[in-house]
Amino acid sequence: MSDNPVTVSYNPDIFEVRSIEEAKRIVLTAEDSTTEERWRVETPYLAESIGEYLKPDASSLIVDYGCGIGRIAKELIERYGCSVIGVDISTSMRQLAPGYVGNARFATCSWSAVDAQIDHGLRVDAVIAIWSLQHSPKVADDIARIARALKPDGHLYVCNLDRAVVPTDVGWIDTGFDIKALLADAFVEIAIGPMLPEHTSGAIAERAFIGKYRKRSD
Ligand SMILES: C[S@@+](CC[C@H](N)C(=O)[O-])C[C@H]1O[C@@H](n2cnc3c(N)ncnc32)[C@H](O)[C@@H]1O
Repeated sequence: MSDNPVTVSYNPDIFEVRSIEEAKRIVLTAEDSTTEERWRVETPYLAESIGEYLKPDASSLIVDYGCGIGRIAKELIERYGCSVIGVDISTSMRQLAPGYVGNARFATCSWSAVDAQIDHGLRVDAVIAIWSLQHSPKVADDIARIARALKPDGHLYVCNLDRAVVPTDVGWIDTGFDIKALLADAFVEIAIGPMLPEHTSGAIAERAFIGKYRKRSD
């Protein structure tokens, strides 16, 4: 056996899609349910839960970190009239999302464009991260970015798997980071709880959480 070290490379190409239908299957994998059923059950539940926590209105500006095609952004804008900046690593998701959301209160950006806006003073009321932090190869950097994007007293709503699932050239891997601990270090933890099976698929509920946070004042 060779003693050459095995190198694994981060490869987010899995998130590049050609159509809304293909995007839906990547955004909400079927697991022990179906993409359609998860979409039908999870989307209104999350919009309601995010609304209860963030209390968005027409004056609110929210960043949707890892927005996909804007599943949650669309629901939030239609219910609460807020504005949403969707950020996503995938060029094709960013291109498809405005068509899916279909609302002038929504726009997509790359992280570099958001960074430039933050450098020029942009601060938002809240960030949501739905099934997205789990995919980051450098999650501490993304958490720091989220904190920088928030106003003092801004809020973060997270729905995530307990463990990392990072796309690589050899498939999905758990890089071992403890996402809950990293979030609790960076933010004030307001509430943390399970994602119940009636709000998602049974298999997902066993390994997912919802976390509500506030920006630290220090
Ligand atoms: C499972 S999908 C969830 C999409 C959306 N939040 C939803 O719930 O409908 C994960 C999304 O996060 C994006 N993503 C993955 N890693 C990211 C990163 N480091 N920064 C921004 N977006 C990322 C993917 O391209 C994908 O669109």
